Amino acid sequence: MLLRLLLLLLFLHGTTSILHKQVDLPADVNTLEYVHTIWRHGDRTPAELLFPQDISKWPEGVGELTARGAAQQYRLGQWLRKRYGDWLGDRFEINAVYVRSSDYNRTLMSAMANMAGLFPPKQPIGDGLLWQPVPVHTRPKPMDKTSNGHFRVSQDGECDFRK
Ligand SMILES: *[C@@H]1O[C@H](CO)[C@@H](O)[C@H](O)[C@H]1NC(C)=O
Repeated sequence: MLLRLLLLLLFLHGTTSILHKQVDLPADVNTLEYVHTIWRHGDRTPAELLFPQDISKWPEGVGELTARGAAQQYRLGQWLRKRYGDWLGDRFEINAVYVRSSDYNRTLMSAMANMAGLFPPKQPIGDGLLWQPVPVHTRPKPMDKTSNGHFRVSQDGECDFRK
């Protein structure tokens, strides 16, 4: 089975502005061969606090995914299902999908929330537990050449790998 969908979840430094292009839903399954998609994490708490005592306002901790961020990713996964669902099929195919995230809690959790939206469970596992686990791969930050600050996206959407 060919790899059909490669999902990359990146921690991108600085401001990124990828041009938005209006697309039709769903994708044309007659011509579609491969999808490679990249996105950032969902809404997060501040990466740094001006006043350390403010930590009580952020029970998730600094730089962590919020419930709102997880919900954003879940909805993005649902959108991906609307667009690519006919092509991917209802069942999760382990050899058809590869998900890669940078090694941050917020990006790993974003990937998992997104996959929950993209692959809603079709049948219970175990004792009626309705869940479809989807593997999310990562690399330790010092070894991650694709997503740990070596990768930038410019204003016009060009990708640039450093070092
Ligand atoms: C992620 O969560 C762990 C606890 O599970 C915590 O020690 C760590 O600081 C968090 N942040 C990152 C960026 O990994």
